[in-house]
Amino acid sequence: MRQLKLNKAFTLIEPGPVVLVTTHDGRKNNIMTISWTMVLDFTPVFAITTGEWNYSFAALRKKRECVIAIPTVDMLNQVVGIGTCSGADTDKFAKFKLTPMHGKLVKAPLIKECLANIECKVIDIVRKHDIVVLEGLAAHMDSERRETRTVHAVGDGTFIVDGRKLDRRKMMASKIPDDL
Ligand SMILES: Cc1cc2nc3c(=O)[nH]c(=O)nc-3n(C[C@H](O)[C@H](O)[C@H](O)COP(=O)(O)O)c2cc1C
Repeated sequence: MRQLKLNKAFTLIEPGPVVLVTTHDGRKNNIMTISWTMVLDFTPVFAITTGEWNYSFAALRKKRECVIAIPTVDMLNQVVGIGTCSGADTDKFAKFKLTPMHGKLVKAPLIKECLANIECKVIDIVRKHDIVVLEGLAAHMDSERRETRTVHAVGDGTFIVDGRKLDRRKMMASKIPDDL
């Protein structure tokens, strides 16, 4: 994967794709599926909603780091499988035939098969609303990948695949950072 400029990392999340979040608890790697995500600013800071009900949460709280990996539509069955079993009793990298890769700054693994990966540190946990706030530290993109369409969860078990890209860059110029 090639390095992606960190100031572009938020553009991976802004369209609202279903993402995979990896953690390393000091002993083993894990992955969970997350569709409740949010971009908080351009720096980039993100938020995900998760909590005690997921095995990954203990690692997020203890190690205060993770990787947000961006899967594509060809990975949908893996994405749903990862989100319907627990790292408490399952090695999800082995079960879903995914390859962990070392990141630059965090111990949580990148996922080689994903389109992109963002190394993050946990900068806040808002327990009242189960919000985990993440700061992106480094981003990586597989620019060789042919399938680039991400998936978007409706919330009822159905998904929408990316469609046409529409360009309104000129109209939005005043709202977009210069070097994006
Ligand atoms: C499509 C999909 C989206 C999901 N989105 C979320 C989410 O936004 N927040 C959350 O806490 N759990 C979400 N889940 C559920 C977790 O991925 C699931 O509980 C998973 O088993 C947690 O893994 P763990 O116990 O190994 O951490 C989602 C599951 C699926 C299939």
